[in-house]
Amino acid sequence: MEKRINWGIIGTGWIAGKMAEALAGVEGATLAAVASRTQEKANGFARMHRVGTAYGSYEEIAVDPAIDVVYVATPHPLHCENTLLCLRSGKAVLCEKPFAMNEMEVVQMISAAREHGVFLMEAFWTRFLPSIDRVLELVASGVLGDVRHINSDFGAITRFDPDHRAFNKKLGGGSLLDIGIYPVFLTLLLWGEPDLIAGVPHIGPTGVDESLALVFKYDDGRIATLFSSFTVNSTVETHICGTKGRVKLNRMWFCPVPLELTIGDKPSQTIQFDYAGNGYNYEAEEVSRCLRSGRKESDLLPLDFSLRLIRLLDRIRKETGLVYEADERGNVRR
Ligand SMILES: NC(=O)c1ccc[n+]([C@@H]2O[C@H](COP(=O)([O-])OP(=O)(O)OC[C@H]3O[C@@H](n4cnc5c(N)ncnc54)[C@H](OP(=O)(O)O)[C@@H]3O)[C@@H](O)[C@H]2O)c1
Repeated sequence: MEKRINWGIIGTGWIAGKMAEALAGVEGATLAAVASRTQEKANGFARMHRVGTAYGSYEEIAVDPAIDVVYVATPHPLHCENTLLCLRSGKAVLCEKPFAMNEMEVVQMISAAREHGVFLMEAFWTRFLPSIDRVLELVASGVLGDVRHINSDFGAITRFDPDHRAFNKKLGGGSLLDIGIYPVFLTLLLWGEPDLIAGVPHIGPTGVDESLALVFKYDDGRIATLFSSFTVNSTVETHICGTKGRVKLNRMWFCPVPLELTIGDKPSQTIQFDYAGNGYNYEAEEVSRCLRSGRKESDLLPLDFSLRLIRLLDRIRKETGLVYEADERGNVRR
């Protein structure tokens, strides 16, 4: 019989709830503990999601011998600190995106995972959706011809609240790190690092990029146009266009959705998938597979990819003048 994987979650916010729902449907997975900054919130989350143990501090879950892997679901500036806490106690970690605030933090996390010989992965759930594998296959197969253009958009209207993590700079606010990271991730996955980056942010009253338009240019002429926004009701589609055809990842493209394939002037063909769960189950299943086979990182989303992703985000931030506290203090969180 396969070993059960006992999960713990740090943080009790929106995404923690989604992961709790997903884990309930993952074979061989038990959500065994949750940790919050307050005992009351931990108890409430545990009641709602039927979690056995509720901790009123993050430190306690990191040393719980019953837990195999901790899912870090706190705001971005805490990812490094919370991940290091667990890794240093020998716990495997699945940490939300962005993996951390900048390259320096991610390097620390990867070094700690290697030093302590434990599993670490960025919770970039989209990478594990069947639609993304199909896109990679379509591009590699040549049916689209030479793929020359990517147009990827992620707008998510978010009610303005200066204290909400989307707008609060101290909590890592801004569209790039929260949602713009998805178009950047996909372009990096398909094409690697661009030769040139141009970007224009719209900075809102709290000093964060409420919207950001990016162009990636490659020396061979390929161009990606990427957009993220908290204020625009945009298409939230991705179009990958070649010399012979194109594939569209339908609205909410980063979620489990169908694809539309168009070759030449022929009518589009819909590619459906037999999705299960709410989508977060796919990344959890990858973690289970890795832990059961003793792997310290995922082949599908290796640590080197997460390092390249954060470097690219740092480069974009440099181009567009987006700076956070973590950068200013040279950022070593311990
Ligand atoms: N993969 C996805 O689809 C997806 C979707 C949404 C968000 N995310 C990522 O997940 C992370 C959390 O996002 P979320 O939307 O779940 O945020 P959220 O609803 O605000 O929850 C964050 C949780 O972190 C904990 N926390 C610790 N220190 C905090 C602080 N200073 N301020 C606020 N909360 C603090 C809180 O839990 P306690 O008080 O219980 O400790 C809080 O409930 C972000 O990094 C985001 O990028 C990913």
